[in-house]
Amino acid sequence: MFTAEMLESIKKVEATRAARIGVEPRRMTAEEKDELLRKFHPDYRAEGFQEIKVGPNKGEKAPYELGTLLHSNSRLLGAPINLEKVDYDVDVLVIGGGGAGSSAAIEAHEAGANVMLVTKLRIGDANTMMAEGGIQAADKENDSPQQHYLDAFGGGHFAARPELLRRLVMEAPDAIRWLNDLGVMFDKDPDGRMVTTHGGGTSRKRMHACKDYSGAEIMRVLRDEVWNRQIPVVDFTAAVELIMDDQGQVAGAVLQNMETGVYLVARAKTVIIATGGAGRLHYQDFPTSNHYGATADGLVMGYRAGAPLLYQDTIQYHPTGVAYPAQIFGALVTEKVRSLGAMLINAEGEAFMHPLETRDVSAASIIRECRERGKGVPTPTGFGIWLDTPMIEMIHGEGTIEKRIPAMLRMYLNYDIDMRKQPILIYPTLHYQNGGLEIGGEGFTKAIPNLLVAGEAVGGIHGRNRLMGNSLLDIIVFGRNAGKAAAGKCKEVTLGRMNLDHSQTYAEELKAAGLDTQEVSPLLLPKYTFGMPK
Ligand code: FUM
Repeated sequence: MFTAEMLESIKKVEATRAARIGVEPRRMTAEEKDELLRKFHPDYRAEGFQEIKVGPNKGEKAPYELGTLLHSNSRLLGAPINLEKVDYDVDVLVIGGGGAGSSAAIEAHEAGANVMLVTKLRIGDANTMMAEGGIQAADKENDSPQQHYLDAFGGGHFAARPELLRRLVMEAPDAIRWLNDLGVMFDKDPDGRMVTTHGGGTSRKRMHACKDYSGAEIMRVLRDEVWNRQIPVVDFTAAVELIMDDQGQVAGAVLQNMETGVYLVARAKTVIIATGGAGRLHYQDFPTSNHYGATADGLVMGYRAGAPLLYQDTIQYHPTGVAYPAQIFGALVTEKVRSLGAMLINAEGEAFMHPLETRDVSAASIIRECRERGKGVPTPTGFGIWLDTPMIEMIHGEGTIEKRIPAMLRMYLNYDIDMRKQPILIYPTLHYQNGGLEIGGEGFTKAIPNLLVAGEAVGGIHGRNRLMGNSLLDIIVFGRNAGKAAAGKCKEVTLGRMNLDHSQTYAEELKAAGLDTQEVSPLLLPKYTFGMPK
């Protein structure tokens, strides 16, 4: 239920609604966008960052909370780990049970490798499951992977690694076919053609979706496939440190049972980090749309072992997180709401920006409207901007919201807000890490032999901003590729004597840098949960 002040503001939104139908607000110029980002995007707030003092990215900046984890000690310092007692011995160890990890495990298994997937929660407890709006692929006549490339390269401020982005867009149509063949129920016309829509920054309609349950549907199918193939899944077991061998290759990981605290040793010829994002680090105190497990574990483990990060200083704040009601503060309101025609409207009833600017620009514009121009709507947690959802039914007809974005409708009806009749209040929410561990085109890290990375833990695929629908795509493309590459590579790997020397060396570097800390990482669970057993 809205407050009296909100209801007064809604009257102003209603008063301008009819005149807004069919009128596109002006797009910002490149210069306007640059200035806006510099002044209002959280990536430009110096207080949100610290300098990295040790390791391959020493001297660069990282979000403060990630920096603190990089400046923490291994959980294993002083722990009695016997690497001679091997609990699991596999060709391919996949760390992470989301879309990237599952895709990797499926393809490694398809290639005949002995693969095991380990996850600190359950398979499917991941950001993939929470993705709503869709997955991009240029597979219609008026589109091409080249066009897709240009959109994503520009949207990412021309910083994407060309080799990675090329793979993403070229392999996108096959990723959709693969998912469709596995059983993903994409939205289709009566004639069987995929329904596709725009996202922010797309020049063609190439967003494939499963209503607004796209990630849940994809994860449902991937998880079934992992189970049907009887790929071993070790759940409620976190990877806490990579194991190296005396030839400097990755050789597995130390695992820890999340309930008992017992350590386990997994030896592996190849290791794939697919641990996802970092939203639960709540950079700059933002709420998040992310899963509880999103604590940057893979970045920390890979970095401590010597793998460089790329673009760790660039974060995606999704423009439309829930600003009200407080019970669902920060939850995702899919961009599909705007691609269906809902406009962003300030407290005065003014459409202050084009609704489908790229995400970083949209988020900065909303922050400016509230913080500088004073045109946000006050909420118990700060401010909100209206997303004028009744416009959707006016443009596409009654019943569209229930048909195309039923998850949104249900989420708000739980709080007596009917988005078909009333606008909803949004504000940016921490959604995605644009940066992560650096890889080459085949998915291998450049510094550590036989260590691969896939999904949100990778840096460089999208540059310094990601377009909607390119994350569900990258988990499939890079997850599949990593699984195939790892399965191929393990045939030529002979492991040497295993050790954890790198965690000791890292501790010494921390001390030498004046960081004599009691903190340990990876974090595994957000600070407001109970954490690991002692
Ligand atoms: O808005 C959304 O549905 C989010 C999609 C994405 O992050 O790709």
